[in-house]
Amino acid sequence: MTQDELKKVVGLAALQYVQPDTVVGIGTGSTVMHFIDALATVKHLIKGAVSSSEASTLRLKNLGITIFDLNEIDTLSIYVDGADEINPHMQMIKGGGAALTREKIVAAVAEKFICIADSSKEVDMLGSFPLPIEVISMARTYVARELVKLGGMPKYRQHVVTDNGNIILDVHNLRIVDPITMEKTINALPGVVTVGLFAMRGADIALIGMADGMVKIMKK
Ligand code: A5P
Repeated sequence: MTQDELKKVVGLAALQYVQPDTVVGIGTGSTVMHFIDALATVKHLIKGAVSSSEASTLRLKNLGITIFDLNEIDTLSIYVDGADEINPHMQMIKGGGAALTREKIVAAVAEKFICIADSSKEVDMLGSFPLPIEVISMARTYVARELVKLGGMPKYRQHVVTDNGNIILDVHNLRIVDPITMEKTINALPGVVTVGLFAMRGADIALIGMADGMVKIMKK
Protein backbone atom coordinates (compact mmCIF):
# COMPACT_ATOMS: atom_id res chain seq x y z
CA MET A 1 0.00 0.00 0.00
CA THR A 2 1.16 3.55 -0.66
CA GLN A 3 1.75 5.99 2.19
CA ASP A 4 -1.39 7.89 1.22
CA GLU A 5 -3.47 4.69 1.21
CA LEU A 6 -2.20 3.93 4.72
CA LYS A 7 -3.15 7.45 5.82
CA LYS A 8 -6.65 6.78 4.48
CA VAL A 9 -6.86 3.46 6.35
CA VAL A 10 -6.04 5.07 9.71
CA GLY A 11 -8.29 8.04 8.96
CA LEU A 12 -11.17 5.61 8.54
CA ALA A 13 -10.14 3.57 11.59
CA ALA A 14 -10.40 6.66 13.81
CA LEU A 15 -14.14 6.85 13.11
CA GLN A 16 -14.76 4.11 15.69
CA TYR A 17 -13.79 6.56 18.47
CA VAL A 18 -16.33 9.20 17.44
CA GLN A 19 -19.20 9.38 19.96
CA PRO A 20 -22.69 10.32 18.78
CA ASP A 21 -23.95 13.81 19.61
CA THR A 22 -20.50 15.22 20.45
CA VAL A 23 -18.15 17.86 19.07
CA VAL A 24 -14.96 16.36 17.61
CA GLY A 25 -11.51 18.00 17.81
CA ILE A 26 -9.79 18.04 14.43
CA GLY A 27 -6.06 18.31 13.71
CA THR A 28 -4.27 19.29 10.53
CA GLY A 29 -2.44 17.56 7.69
CA SER A 30 -2.90 15.04 4.92
CA THR A 31 -3.81 12.15 7.28
CA VAL A 32 -6.44 14.25 9.03
CA MET A 33 -7.92 15.21 5.65
CA HIS A 34 -8.80 11.52 5.23
CA PHE A 35 -10.34 11.48 8.71
CA ILE A 36 -12.42 14.57 7.83
CA ASP A 37 -13.69 12.83 4.69
CA ALA A 38 -14.64 9.79 6.79
CA LEU A 39 -16.27 11.99 9.43
CA ALA A 40 -18.49 13.54 6.76
CA THR A 41 -20.17 10.15 6.30
CA VAL A 42 -21.48 10.33 9.89
CA LYS A 43 -21.99 14.09 10.12
CA HIS A 44 -25.70 13.65 10.88
CA LEU A 45 -24.71 11.79 14.09
CA ILE A 46 -22.38 14.45 15.56
CA LYS A 47 -22.87 18.06 16.64
CA GLY A 48 -19.85 19.30 14.73
CA ALA A 49 -16.13 19.97 15.06
CA VAL A 50 -13.52 22.28 16.54
CA SER A 51 -10.72 22.80 14.05
CA SER A 52 -7.00 23.47 14.54
CA SER A 53 -6.32 25.28 11.26
CA GLU A 54 -7.80 27.31 8.45
CA ALA A 55 -7.07 24.43 6.06
CA SER A 56 -9.03 21.89 8.12
CA THR A 57 -11.85 24.39 8.70
CA LEU A 58 -12.24 24.88 4.96
CA ARG A 59 -12.45 21.13 4.32
CA LEU A 60 -14.94 20.64 7.18
CA LYS A 61 -17.14 23.49 5.96
CA ASN A 62 -17.07 22.25 2.37
CA LEU A 63 -18.32 18.88 3.60
CA GLY A 64 -21.14 20.48 5.59
CA ILE A 65 -19.75 19.83 9.09
CA THR A 66 -20.64 22.53 11.63
CA ILE A 67 -17.66 24.39 13.08
CA PHE A 68 -17.62 25.43 16.74
CA ASP A 69 -15.37 28.04 18.32
CA LEU A 70 -13.27 26.39 21.04
CA ASN A 71 -14.48 29.03 23.50
CA GLU A 72 -18.03 27.72 23.13
CA ILE A 73 -16.96 24.23 24.23
CA ASP A 74 -16.23 22.94 27.75
CA THR A 75 -15.01 19.49 26.80
CA LEU A 76 -14.14 17.49 23.73
CA SER A 77 -14.26 13.72 24.02
CA ILE A 78 -11.62 13.19 21.32
CA TYR A 79 -9.01 15.08 19.32
CA VAL A 80 -7.79 13.35 16.16
CA ASP A 81 -4.51 14.43 14.58
CA GLY A 82 -1.48 13.18 12.68
CA ALA A 83 2.19 13.38 13.67
CA ASP A 84 5.56 13.95 12.07
CA GLU A 85 7.18 11.51 14.50
CA ILE A 86 5.84 9.33 17.31
CA ASN A 87 7.89 7.34 19.82
CA PRO A 88 6.93 4.23 21.84
CA HIS A 89 5.72 6.47 24.72
CA MET A 90 3.35 8.13 22.24
CA GLN A 91 5.18 11.44 22.52
CA MET A 92 5.25 13.28 19.21
CA ILE A 93 6.86 15.89 17.01
CA LYS A 94 4.20 17.91 15.22
CA GLY A 95 4.04 21.14 13.26
CA GLY A 96 5.22 20.07 9.82
CA GLY A 97 2.10 21.86 8.58
CA ALA A 98 2.78 24.90 10.81
CA ALA A 99 -0.47 24.41 12.77
CA LEU A 100 1.19 23.31 16.03
CA THR A 101 -0.11 26.06 18.34
CA ARG A 102 -3.79 25.57 17.63
CA GLU A 103 -3.22 21.82 17.58
CA LYS A 104 -1.75 21.94 21.08
CA ILE A 105 -4.59 24.11 22.35
CA VAL A 106 -7.38 21.90 20.98
CA ALA A 107 -5.55 18.76 22.13
CA ALA A 108 -5.32 20.19 25.66
CA VAL A 109 -9.10 20.44 25.87
CA ALA A 110 -9.77 16.90 24.67
CA GLU A 111 -10.18 13.91 26.96
CA LYS A 112 -8.43 11.62 24.48
CA PHE A 113 -5.80 12.42 21.85
CA ILE A 114 -6.00 9.91 19.01
CA CYS A 115 -2.93 10.00 16.79
CA ILE A 116 -3.32 8.66 13.25
CA ALA A 117 -0.18 8.01 11.25
CA ASP A 118 1.46 5.65 8.79
CA SER A 119 4.34 3.53 10.07
CA SER A 120 7.00 5.83 8.54
CA LYS A 121 6.29 8.19 11.48
CA GLU A 122 7.34 5.66 14.13
CA VAL A 123 10.75 6.31 15.73
CA ASP A 124 12.61 5.12 18.82
CA MET A 125 13.95 8.60 19.57
CA LEU A 126 12.39 11.90 18.50
CA GLY A 127 14.50 14.42 16.60
CA SER A 128 15.31 13.16 13.12
CA PHE A 129 12.38 15.22 11.84
CA PRO A 130 13.36 18.88 12.34
CA LEU A 131 11.50 20.20 15.40
CA PRO A 132 9.08 23.01 14.42
CA ILE A 133 8.82 25.98 16.79
CA GLU A 134 6.36 28.85 16.34
CA VAL A 135 8.07 32.11 17.28
CA ILE A 136 7.06 35.79 17.46
CA SER A 137 8.84 37.36 14.49
CA MET A 138 10.89 39.92 16.47
CA ALA A 139 12.37 37.13 18.62
CA ARG A 140 13.56 35.03 15.68
CA THR A 141 17.32 35.52 15.94
CA TYR A 142 17.35 35.55 19.76
CA VAL A 143 15.44 32.27 19.94
CA ALA A 144 17.65 30.81 17.20
CA ARG A 145 20.80 31.61 19.23
CA GLU A 146 19.29 29.95 22.32
CA LEU A 147 18.40 26.85 20.29
CA VAL A 148 22.01 26.59 19.10
CA LYS A 149 23.05 26.55 22.78
CA LEU A 150 20.73 23.55 23.22
CA GLY A 151 22.63 21.74 20.45
CA GLY A 152 20.19 22.36 17.61
CA MET A 153 20.58 23.91 14.19
CA PRO A 154 17.55 26.18 13.65
CA LYS A 155 16.44 27.06 10.15
CA TYR A 156 13.92 29.78 9.37
CA ARG A 157 11.01 28.31 7.37
CA GLN A 158 10.94 30.74 4.45
CA HIS A 159 7.67 32.25 3.22
CA VAL A 160 5.58 30.67 5.99
CA VAL A 161 3.36 32.74 8.27
CA THR A 162 1.27 30.72 10.73
CA ASP A 163 -2.50 31.12 11.15
CA ASN A 164 -1.56 33.24 14.19
CA GLY A 165 0.73 35.58 12.21
CA ASN A 166 4.03 34.18 13.51
CA ILE A 167 7.07 32.48 11.97
CA ILE A 168 8.42 28.93 12.22
CA LEU A 169 11.94 27.81 13.10
CA ASP A 170 12.71 24.16 12.24
CA VAL A 171 15.43 22.79 14.49
CA HIS A 172 17.71 20.18 12.93
CA ASN A 173 20.25 17.88 14.59
CA LEU A 174 18.44 17.38 17.88
CA ARG A 175 18.59 14.06 19.70
CA ILE A 176 15.63 14.41 22.03
CA VAL A 177 16.58 12.05 24.84
CA ASP A 178 14.21 13.65 27.37
CA PRO A 179 11.24 15.08 25.45
CA ILE A 180 9.39 16.47 28.49
CA THR A 181 12.39 18.46 29.71
CA MET A 182 13.11 19.68 26.17
CA GLU A 183 9.50 20.79 25.75
CA LYS A 184 9.58 22.74 29.02
CA THR A 185 12.98 24.30 28.26
CA ILE A 186 12.03 25.54 24.80
CA ASN A 187 8.57 26.69 25.94
CA ALA A 188 10.26 28.89 28.55
CA LEU A 189 12.26 30.93 26.00
CA PRO A 190 10.79 34.44 25.60
CA GLY A 191 9.37 34.78 22.10
CA VAL A 192 8.50 31.11 21.72
CA VAL A 193 4.77 30.68 21.18
CA THR A 194 4.74 26.88 20.97
CA VAL A 195 7.24 24.09 20.52
CA GLY A 196 6.09 21.21 18.34
CA LEU A 197 6.99 18.64 20.99
CA PHE A 198 3.86 16.95 22.30
CA ALA A 199 5.45 15.13 25.24
CA MET A 200 3.77 16.49 28.38
CA ARG A 201 0.48 15.76 26.64
CA GLY A 202 1.16 12.94 24.23
CA ALA A 203 -1.35 10.72 22.46
CA ASP A 204 -3.63 8.43 24.44
CA ILE A 205 -4.27 6.14 21.50
CA ALA A 206 -2.22 5.78 18.33
CA LEU A 207 -3.51 4.11 15.18
CA ILE A 208 -0.54 3.20 13.01
CA GLY A 209 -1.03 2.09 9.41
CA MET A 210 1.38 -0.79 8.73
CA ALA A 211 2.82 -1.69 5.32
CA ASP A 212 0.43 -4.68 4.96
CA GLY A 213 -2.59 -2.42 5.45
CA MET A 214 -3.28 -3.52 9.03
CA VAL A 215 -3.77 -0.95 11.78
CA LYS A 216 -1.59 -1.27 14.87
CA ILE A 217 -3.34 0.13 17.95
CA MET A 218 -1.17 1.56 20.73
CA LYS A 219 -2.76 2.61 24.03
CA LYS A 220 -1.44 4.31 27.14
C1 A5P B 1 0.51 19.90 11.20
O1 A5P B 1 1.02 21.07 11.74
C2 A5P B 1 1.22 18.71 11.72
O2 A5P B 1 1.32 18.65 13.09
C3 A5P B 1 0.65 17.43 11.17
O3 A5P B 1 -0.16 16.78 12.08
C4 A5P B 1 1.78 16.54 10.83
O4 A5P B 1 2.66 17.30 10.05
C5 A5P B 1 1.35 15.29 10.08
O5 A5P B 1 1.00 15.60 8.78
P1 A5P B 1 0.62 14.52 7.71
O6 A5P B 1 -0.63 13.87 8.18
O7 A5P B 1 0.37 15.35 6.45
O8 A5P B 1 1.75 13.58 7.55
